[in-house]
Amino acid sequence: MARGDPFQEAARLLAGRRNAVALTGAGISVESGIPAFRGTHGLWEKFPPMEYATIGAFMRQPEKAWRMLSELLSLCGGASPNAAHAGLVELESRGVLRAVITQNVDGLHQAAGSRRVIEYHGNMKELVCISCWKHFPTRERWKAGEDAPRCECGEVLKPNIVLFGEPIPWIPQERAEEEARTCGVLLVIGTSAQVAPACDIPRIAKEAGAAVVEINPEETMLTGSVTDVYLPGKASEVVGRVLGILPPAGTPEN
Ligand code: OAD
Repeated sequence: MARGDPFQEAARLLAGRRNAVALTGAGISVESGIPAFRGTHGLWEKFPPMEYATIGAFMRQPEKAWRMLSELLSLCGGASPNAAHAGLVELESRGVLRAVITQNVDGLHQAAGSRRVIEYHGNMKELVCISCWKHFPTRERWKAGEDAPRCECGEVLKPNIVLFGEPIPWIPQERAEEEARTCGVLLVIGTSAQVAPACDIPRIAKEAGAAVVEINPEETMLTGSVTDVYLPGKASEVVGRVLGILPPAGTPEN
């Protein structure tokens, strides 16, 4: 772990190496009003994931799984990007950040204006038929308060997200690993790093020579091991503070 002022250290690394990539989790959207999954008031407190969020649970009792999915869709649908999402767009426009890998399914990075977003766990804007694989825009088939939406063929529709027990689609997985292997700095924001294989991305980046900068109000499993620079605090405040002291892109690290 780096010594000295971690905020200065992070700004120096970002500006000096330039080719940073962000890995984001639910914490970056908390300030947009979408609660995180774990911890008090997290979605998994109300909907234990083994009962509501595995592919097996969905196939056995889709109506039950849709209670959780409807709540998640309502939360995502009403949310707007916050200052942390906007800060990543600003880092991209300053030539410092080249891509965002997100575990979030809320679409808020794209809504903020990030151009290269890898959706590792899919997104909520599409529904897929579990039988004929037809895709639909979510707003065409889902209404809050209704039962599980159905395809034209009569089968149940599932949001195009990765439930527990499902593999990560190979294109986002390959792209994310490639970004991790080739970035100079991995900016890890608002993830508890408890879900595999997303939690392996920081280690992949570190082993390939990147500096790992972590933003989170709480320490995680990465903090004492993989993280090089830990910036405690809420994503919007920390990203804003780093942007405020960021030297021009290309400033040498030392
Ligand atoms: P978690 O709910 O596990 O962790 C959220 C993290 O955000 C925690 O470490 C919090 O300390 C941190 N946090 C809270 N407020 C914050 C703030 N204002 N700014 C920055 N950080 C904050 O969410 P994820 O790590 O994203 O998967 O969870 C990973 C995956 O588990 C999710 O993608 C989801 C879930 O099961 C699927 O749905 C497939």
